[in-house]
Amino acid sequence: MTVRQLQDEIIKLKKQTDTCILAHSYMSEEICEIADFTGDSYALAVKAKATTNKNVIMCGVRFMAEMVKMLNPEKKVILSNPAAGCPMAEQMDKEMILQIKEKYPDYAVVAYVNTTAQLKTIADVCVTSSSAVKICRAIPQKNILFIPDINLGTYVKERVPEKNFKLLSGGCPTHAKINEKEVLAAKSAHPNALFLVHPECRPEVVKHADYVGSTTGIMDFAAKSDAKEFIIGTENAIIQHLQFAHPEKRFYALSKDLVCNNMKATTLSDVYHCLTGDGGEVIDMEESVRLSAVKCIEEMIKYGG
Ligand code: 13P
Ligand code: SF4
Repeated sequence: MTVRQLQDEIIKLKKQTDTCILAHSYMSEEICEIADFTGDSYALAVKAKATTNKNVIMCGVRFMAEMVKMLNPEKKVILSNPAAGCPMAEQMDKEMILQIKEKYPDYAVVAYVNTTAQLKTIADVCVTSSSAVKICRAIPQKNILFIPDINLGTYVKERVPEKNFKLLSGGCPTHAKINEKEVLAAKSAHPNALFLVHPECRPEVVKHADYVGSTTGIMDFAAKSDAKEFIIGTENAIIQHLQFAHPEKRFYALSKDLVCNNMKATTLSDVYHCLTGDGGEVIDMEESVRLSAVKCIEEMIKYGG
């Protein structure tokens, strides 16, 4: 079967089974083409809340599928590849944060969405990379315990000086491994290119950026900009999407190492097998966990929209 034939089968099956396919922008081009909606974590959460289909397939990582389930308890939500986790989401657990909270009782727990459902049960509000600054400014609390990403936390802290932040040392292993030397090398190889970067990168990388934002933010910036060349400082999948969307522009990877193996785990064939009922993982969540965890997602959507 060719890629095109497999895509046609998927399109037919999703209609027959009343299934909506959501894909994070880090998915491959061939998956994004058959998705009903693609976007960053925030956009996917909003879309998940609005979808009317009976079934949802989430092409992304586990915490994203959990978020869809929290917002749609009555729907069958399938994670397209059960091995696709997010290492950052596993770095901190509920017990660890409860212990820290004892030392900082008057701090609001602001959790990046890249956290488990269990951890979300003790968060006051969730944020994504595109909504974090806005939400930290908007919430009534002055003191914020920001978990788990220290790089996103530092980025937000610098932009919200009126609040007190306590940061912990978690983060995305893919974005955090990029250093300033690589930025300088990419800039000297492409002196006319604008540098667009994700806030999960280290501050020494982010400080050189012409634009800092989520995956959707970076893609929108590149689409609207009059510039012709861009260095992309996030997962390399979006370079191909940008290249297809804007063939007249040039996009360069900040580093060949900006690859998330978890986001790369999902294949078109995984999506096909979810639809035929012999693949993926149906997300199951205890109702008590769902009810406590969904509150911080609802708060995020309330503040972030
Ligand atoms: P955004 O989708 O918010 O840009 O986050 C990127 C990411 O690393 C998701 O895991
Ligand atoms: Fe997690 Fe980083 Fe991969 Fe996103 S890119 S899923 S934060 S490991």
